[in-house]
Amino acid sequence: MVKLVDAPHSKCGTFGYVGSSPTAPTLMNTYNRFNITFKKGKGCWLWDKNGNKYLDAVSGIATCSLGHSNGALRRNLSNQLKKIQHVSNLYQIEEQTKLSEWLTKNSCAEAAFFCNSGAEANEAAIKLIRKFGSKISHNKESIILAAESSFHGRTFAALSATGQSKYHQGFEPLLSGFKFFKYNDFQSVKNIFEECKKSNQHIAGILIEPIQGEGGVIPGDKKFFQQLREICDQENSLLIFDEVQSGVGRTGKMWGYENLEIEPDGFTLAKGLGGGHAIGALLVGKKANLFTPGDHASTFGGNPFACTAALTILNEIKKKNLLHNVLMRSIQIEEGLDNISKEYSNKIAGHRGIGLLQGIVLREEVIDAQKITISAFEKGLLVVPAGKNVVRIVPPLIISKNEINIILKKLTLIFRGL
Ligand SMILES: Cc1ncc(COP(=O)(O)O)c(C=O)c1O
Repeated sequence: MVKLVDAPHSKCGTFGYVGSSPTAPTLMNTYNRFNITFKKGKGCWLWDKNGNKYLDAVSGIATCSLGHSNGALRRNLSNQLKKIQHVSNLYQIEEQTKLSEWLTKNSCAEAAFFCNSGAEANEAAIKLIRKFGSKISHNKESIILAAESSFHGRTFAALSATGQSKYHQGFEPLLSGFKFFKYNDFQSVKNIFEECKKSNQHIAGILIEPIQGEGGVIPGDKKFFQQLREICDQENSLLIFDEVQSGVGRTGKMWGYENLEIEPDGFTLAKGLGGGHAIGALLVGKKANLFTPGDHASTFGGNPFACTAALTILNEIKKKNLLHNVLMRSIQIEEGLDNISKEYSNKIAGHRGIGLLQGIVLREEVIDAQKITISAFEKGLLVVPAGKNVVRIVPPLIISKNEINIILKKLTLIFRGL
């Protein structure tokens, strides 16, 4: 029986429950974990050591794009290990060049920098915006704008750009030079641009998620993003998207920005790019292609192994037409969530999302996301909260029609049983 813990880690956000035994004392106490060890995974399914089976609508938090134990990934990575695993960015890396070619050929970017995680990719983006600012701001103080309820990662610059104070507590002082606007509210962006002009500050760039993930699965408004594009062009600021969660097919388009019909000056990736293997990336267009040797680096970033994982994911998404699958499955899940939301409207305020990044918005006064996550777990379904009152559904991009039906059936049982 899983129980709710009166978590000392209330600022953990996503991670707020454990089973009957806590994390091993030899591990630092950074996560409240379920008391379960998965021993095997195949496709969208995971098995624990007792053979119990779970349908995985978390996929390592929007990471295992091709599900578990994918054949192409297994083959390509085994072959890569037999050839070469890591050298250094002191040398040419064939797999890294191929990956950068794939990414630039299939996006608005012209160049890539590789690292190992989402936070690290955002650190690179923040440094890039600072560099852009220092070149053009003519001795004005350089400012970076980010959104309230955003999430950009746990390292210091990424944390400073994260617009949720619960993640900041105990870690101040943060990096200076960030200001926050309301997501999807252009007037609040305009106000900051005007304030900054009056105080001799220049907005060097905006860092923003095209759909907020951790902040509660909040899709970006098309008009708002188009206005952001316009103001960044007018005021000579960079518009950089954090696509760590939304990128690599998650929304039914290869990149989240395609849903908004604008192009950013750059964007960051991680999570789904490696399908469970550590890789992050900063992709830049012409205006933002500013780094020169010595500006930024990463020992492991873009090594042959990680790049082979990413190339496999990207090629399989194309080969298996997974964007179409994401689209079809998202129509199916949205229809199902419509029905569930109507039937249990006393507990559910609604649902929102794009593609296979979906959230059920709970009536917070009645029930919270942790409770649903635990009930789902007990019924063999893995889901993950996004904030206090949103249950996030982020299955692998390969999920089938039948598996979506199983998710919907289990959710119906959960809400019926509350
Ligand atoms: C939008 C976004 N940016 C950045 C991050 C941080 O990524 P990582 O945990 O790989 O550092 C996350 C992780 O949830 C995210 O959702």
